[in-house]
Amino acid sequence: MTGSATPEPAGRRPVAVLVGFMGAGKSTVGAALARLLDAPLVDTDAEIVRRAGRPIPQIFVDDGEQAFRDLEAQVVADVLATHTGVVALGGGAVTTAAVREALAGHAVVHLDITPEAGWARVRGSDRPLLRDDDGRGAEQRYRDLHAARRALYRSVTVHHVDATSGDADRLARRIVAVLDADHLEPTAGSPS
Ligand code: S3P
Repeated sequence: MTGSATPEPAGRRPVAVLVGFMGAGKSTVGAALARLLDAPLVDTDAEIVRRAGRPIPQIFVDDGEQAFRDLEAQVVADVLATHTGVVALGGGAVTTAAVREALAGHAVVHLDITPEAGWARVRGSDRPLLRDDDGRGAEQRYRDLHAARRALYRSVTVHHVDATSGDADRLARRIVAVLDADHLEPTAGSPS
């Protein structure tokens, strides 16, 4: 992890929270965005590994997916409450209702990728949900999960950025542009 959830004054929020499916580039784009903003990055997967003292596939094997999701929800809540830099969430964090609720009001950016582009990036990785344990094949599992998660990303997201192509630095600049535009937009009730 490139930063840890350092306590910050209450009431401050992360500058951006990146969500998106496996392979969308949340960690690499998050690192580029953190560099650009000169802000620390917390990757919640890395924080989970640090707290559990085990890699994610091992947590799934030892404790099961639900235990992983519970730990993930706790880590996300802690990070959102304490970190003012960039946050990159694991791709499945939004499957937990408490995480979706905790994201309300945050500057959530969805890195959107096509299943084709995402699969090309993650094939052969050791992600536990892509194990071919039901005979359908890892690629089909990836495509099914991609389709099933889409509505969840949309439900928590303020901004969508097409991350199918483009390097991490270019995507980071795009995110800064959409976040800046947000701040420039007059809020309801402000003088016109
Ligand atoms: C998961 C995505 C992974 C990791 C875990 C579960 C998911 O993170 O949190 O393997 O359910 O989509 P990445 O999105 O960083 O691959």
